[in-house]
Amino acid sequence: MTHPTIVAIAGAAGKVGYNLAFRVAQGDMLGPDAPVELRLLDLPDTLGELEGRAMELHDCAFPTLAHVEIGADPRTMFNGVTIALLVAGKPRKPGASRSDLIGTNGALFAEHGRSLGEVAASDVKVLVTGNPANTNCAIAASHAPDIPRTRFAALTRLDHDRAKHRLAKKLKVGVAAVTHMSVWGNHSSTLYPDVFHALVDGRSAWDRIGDLDWLVNKYIPAVAERGATIIAKRGTSSVASAANATVAAMHDWCLGTPPGDWVSMGVASEGAYGVPDHLCSSFPVTVDATGEYHIVTGLEHNDFAQARIHMSVAEMAAEYAAVAAMGLLGPR
Ligand code: LMR
Repeated sequence: MTHPTIVAIAGAAGKVGYNLAFRVAQGDMLGPDAPVELRLLDLPDTLGELEGRAMELHDCAFPTLAHVEIGADPRTMFNGVTIALLVAGKPRKPGASRSDLIGTNGALFAEHGRSLGEVAASDVKVLVTGNPANTNCAIAASHAPDIPRTRFAALTRLDHDRAKHRLAKKLKVGVAAVTHMSVWGNHSSTLYPDVFHALVDGRSAWDRIGDLDWLVNKYIPAVAERGATIIAKRGTSSVASAANATVAAMHDWCLGTPPGDWVSMGVASEGAYGVPDHLCSSFPVTVDATGEYHIVTGLEHNDFAQARIHMSVAEMAAEYAAVAAMGLLGPR
């Protein structure tokens, strides 16, 4: 058997963590020939729950599941990991915004970033799903100065997939017909799903729509507020779709993006499109065969798009300033 990839799930006792563990264990993330060792991390009072989950995982007899460890100590659970899925933290409640969670969840991401910096494999990939994802990602990365910032990403794949579905529905095509979708900025109500560069069956989606009123008043709010709409309907936030997006994002980050297309990831900007480098902003990216992502360059934005992206980046900058004021940022 090939050497298993060590995958940590922080927040494994939560609902997203529960769903995620089975998806990863059955090979949905790294493929049917890639064995995984799962490390299920959560708070000490959840250890009984984690033990039960490990038992259930074993009972599935997944050929790809080599081993399961449970624990509450991040330094032990992150030791040697090459993939860390950070889904920990309190979910938001009806009526709240994701940034309301900064004070509640920020310290946990500082701790997880610090522990990863101390004990994770040097080529670790860290994907932050817990909200507010972009800012939590920046917090975690700031505490792990020895891990390149390019190894930390925030989940905006859920927005990306929501944006694809909504566009496909509008044009009455299957989702597979939609390519070159991109979401920009923060995983929040300010995020900007970009229809202008999206293609449908290889041709400009906007040429087929051309309806600014729909874009501004229906499409963008529907995509950006989808998480809140789900919370209003279910009373709790998305679970299976959040886990699915986490699996899909890490799959593409490890194995490469579909040929000729791109996906959206929240990553350090490297100064791209005028976004300050310390923020984890969503961009369209491609991933090469070695598992390195590259922000898609050279896309031109009209004034409307630029204003939207600017608004979302300004919100991220304000969140960053807030966590700095709370003392949540590390040495980088
Ligand atoms: C989502 O987008 O569904 C999740 O980030 C949960 C939330 O708070 O909206």
